Amino acid sequence: MRKRILTGDRPTGKLHLGHYVGSLLNRTKLQDDYETYVLIADVQALTDNFNTPEKVRQNVLEVAMDNLSVGVDPNKSNIYIQSLIPEVAELTVFYSNLVTISRLQRNPTVKTEIAQKKALFGEDGGSVTYGFLGYPVSQAADITAFNADLVPVGEDQLPLIEQCREIVRKFNSLYGNVLKEPQALVGEVARLKGLDGNTKMGKSLGNAIYLSDTDDETYEKIRNAVTDPKKIRKDDPADPYICMVGYYHSIFSKPEYEQVCEECKAGKRGCVDCKKQLAKNINSELAQIREKRRYYEQHQSEVKDILAQGTKNARIITSQTLRNVKEAMKIDYFK
Ligand code: TRP
Ligand code: SF4
Repeated sequence: MRKRILTGDRPTGKLHLGHYVGSLLNRTKLQDDYETYVLIADVQALTDNFNTPEKVRQNVLEVAMDNLSVGVDPNKSNIYIQSLIPEVAELTVFYSNLVTISRLQRNPTVKTEIAQKKALFGEDGGSVTYGFLGYPVSQAADITAFNADLVPVGEDQLPLIEQCREIVRKFNSLYGNVLKEPQALVGEVARLKGLDGNTKMGKSLGNAIYLSDTDDETYEKIRNAVTDPKKIRKDDPADPYICMVGYYHSIFSKPEYEQVCEECKAGKRGCVDCKKQLAKNINSELAQIREKRRYYEQHQSEVKDILAQGTKNARIITSQTLRNVKEAMKIDYFK
C-alpha cells in the first residue's frame, strides 16, 4: 500500500512564494510516490475569520486554483474542502478530551498568532475564542482522519504536527493502537523571509509576492525591498548578506548567486539592475504557473468538479477511520 500525505492551507488569501518553497513544491514532487490529500481548511479559517465568511468562501477557489496551477495534479492527488468532511468534526470532539487547555496555550504557533492578534486589535480584539484555541485539535483530526504518514508544511506548522503526535499517542494508549503518528516534512526553504526584512513572508504581514501576481506587481514589490542601507550610489560596495534582494537571489537565482555577491561586494552592481534581474528570474519561474492559473480562472466549474471529486474520495478514507475510532472508543452501538 502506498503511504499517504495529508497537507493543506487555510483559505484566508491567495498563496504566495513562501507557501511555494515551504510546502507546495514538496506536494508536486511527492504526489507520484504518495497517495496525496490536500485540504482547503475552511473550518480552521473560520476560527479566526468567523466574522468574514464571504472572504473564506472566495478564497476556497483561489487556494484550489493556486494548488492546481503549481502542479498538484487532480489525476494523482485529491483536493478537498474540510467542512464537507463531517468525520473530521466528530474526531475533533473526541480528541478534545485528550488535550489540556494549558497545553494548547503553550503551543508556540498558537501563542504567536494570539500575540499578532493582540498587536493588531488590542487586548479586546485579540481575545481568544474556544474554537480558535482548539484549532490544533481539529488539525490533528485532519491528519489522523487519513492516517497520514507524511505532512509537508512550512516551519511555522511544526508545533501543530507535534501536538497531533501527542494526541495520537494519548489516543492509542487509552483505546488501542488505531491511529498513526505522522511525520512533518519541511520544504527546502523552511521559512522564506519577507522582502521587507520581516522574518516571514505572510499574507497578514502585507509583504507577500503572490503566485497570482503579474510580472509588474512582482517587480514593484522587489523594487521596494530592503537593501544594504550603506549603499547610496550605484558603484558603492555593499553587503549582499544583509540585503533582502541578495537573500532572494540565493533562493531564486542559484546559478548566478555567486556572481551577484562578488559584484555587489566589489561595487560593480547597481541595486536597480540587481532587482530587475531578480524579478526576471522569479517571473520566469512563475510564468507557467501563472499561465495555468489563467486557464483555471476561466474554467471555474472545472475547479469545482475537481473539488467535488476530491472530497468524495477523501470521505471514503475518513469514514473508515471514524468507524475504527468509534469501535476503539466503545461507542459503536448498532453494528
Ligand atoms: N494550519 C494550516 C495553515 O495555517 C492549514 C491546515 C489545516 C493544515 N489542517 C492541516 C496543514 C493539516 C497541514 C495538515 O495553513
Ligand atoms: Fe542588494 Fe543587489 Fe544592491 Fe547588493 S547590489 S545591495 S545585493 S540589491
